[in-house]
Order: sequence, then structure tokens, then C-alpha cells
Amino acid sequence: MRLVEAIDVGRTVELPDAEPLTILRHVELAVDEGERVSIVGRSGSGKSTLLNLLGLIDSPSEGELRILGEDARRLRGARRDRVRGREIGFIFQQFNLLPGRTAIENVQTPLLYDGGASFWRRERIAREMLERVGLGERTDSRPERLSGGEQQRVAIARALVRRPRLILADEPTGALDLETGGTVMELIEEVAAETRAALVTITHDPAIARRADRHLRLSEGRLVPLDDAVPAGSPS
Ligand SMILES: Nc1ncnc2c1ncn2[C@@H]1O[C@H](COP(=O)(O)OP(=O)(O)OP(=O)(O)O)[C@@H](O)[C@H]1O
Ligand SMILES: [Mg+2]
Repeated sequence: MRLVEAIDVGRTVELPDAEPLTILRHVELAVDEGERVSIVGRSGSGKSTLLNLLGLIDSPSEGELRILGEDARRLRGARRDRVRGREIGFIFQQFNLLPGRTAIENVQTPLLYDGGASFWRRERIAREMLERVGLGERTDSRPERLSGGEQQRVAIARALVRRPRLILADEPTGALDLETGGTVMELIEEVAAETRAALVTITHDPAIARRADRHLRLSEGRLVPLDDAVPAGSPS
């Protein structure tokens, strides 16, 4: 099944001086169930902007976006929240943890909206996920008391706890050392494989990018296969 499809998508924002800024143009992307895609690109090239569109956090200015087979424009209000909460696991570049809540409370949050067994078992499920990211000993710590890398791992546990069908990871290893980064990436891939989720990873790390099945690059607002991203005129 096709989980994400962007057809000729563009995103233009207005700068404070009312000048329009086009961040993305003519973006084409299709990601199927079970597929792993990596996206690289310079700082400011629009990677987070694109991921926010795929995660229903923001909407395209042009073109069509289909998430789980549905036109994103038709997903509004409570239904949009439900798809975002139930089907999409978003790992934010800035973590976005709830301050003043412990690690385990943060990880449990997505399960509060679940009915049935996972609601009642939420503490156990959250604890298991924190153990998998290596934070079994820090479940009762608040984000303010955790290192950047530990906060990142809490954010990853929170994104995966509901077993989403689409995992969107914005620099998921940005705050981690090489070894922890590799382990955490393995965990994300493992959870993705368990549910045949699609995984879209933004990264600056070539080793993380290479782990994907398909490699893309954002350059001048366009998404291109990495092998074609060599600037025109450069020696081949
Ligand atoms: N709402 C907005 N209003 C104005 N400018 C914006 C807005 N959102 C993004 N931008 C600008 O668009 C460009 C792309 O931003 P984006 O965050 O997508 O980059 P990025 O590729 O994720 O960069 P990084 O690797 O540093 O995280 C940046 O120049 C940013 O300042
Ligand atoms: Mg970014």
C-alpha cells in the first residue's frame, strides 16, 4: 500500500516583510508500506518543511498530498488529529517533549487517546519502549534533567509507542554519538519492520542515510534522487 504520495507539491511562506519565500517546488514523492527512504540536504533546504507536510502538521501551498491513500486536504479537524495520532509517528528535530512531565509520562501521552487494552497497559508499554531506547533507569526523570541525547531517545520512544504505519524522523540521531545513533536507528528500523511501516528519515549523517532503501536529496526546493544530485557541469 502507498502510505505517502506528494504530487507536484510546493510550499511558499510569507516572510515578515510580506515577501513570499518558496521553500519547496514541484516535489514528487511516493513511499510504500515497508519502504525506507532517506532525505539529505543543506541546512535551510526545506527538509523539516517537507516532513511537516507529510506529517499533516502543515499544508502544501500547491499540488496534492495523499496520506494513507487520502487527499490531505480532506483530512480536517478530529479526523486529521486521529490520523496524525494513530498512524503517524513523528520524531521532531527539536524533540518537543512536554516539560515538567517525566520521561514515562511523555512516552505514555500518545496512548492516552487509545481505547481498550493499550490505554490500560500504557504505563507498561511506555516502560518497555523506554527500556528499548536504553532509558529504563530514567523513566521518572523530567526532560530538563536529561541530556540532549536522552531527550532525543524519549522523543523516539514516544513516536514509536503506538506502532505507527508511517514513521517520520527529523534528524533522529542528531544529538547522539555514533554508537548510540546506530543502536537507536536499528531500533527505529526494527519497530518499522514489525508493523511494515514506511520510514522517512532526514539526516545529515551519510552512514544513517545509507541505511535506507532509497536515497533522496533536497536541493533548491526540489527533491531529487541522490545519484542525480551532482551539480550539472561537474566532472562525472
Ligand atoms: N513558517 C516559516 N516562515 C518563514 N520562513 C520559514 C518558515 N518555515 C521555514 N522557513 C524557512 O525555510 C527554509 C527551510 O527551513 P527548514 O526548517 O525546512 O530547513 P531544513 O532543511 O530542515 O534545515 P536544517 O537542516 O537546518 O534543519 C529556512 O530558510 C527557513 O528559515
Ligand atoms: Mg530541519
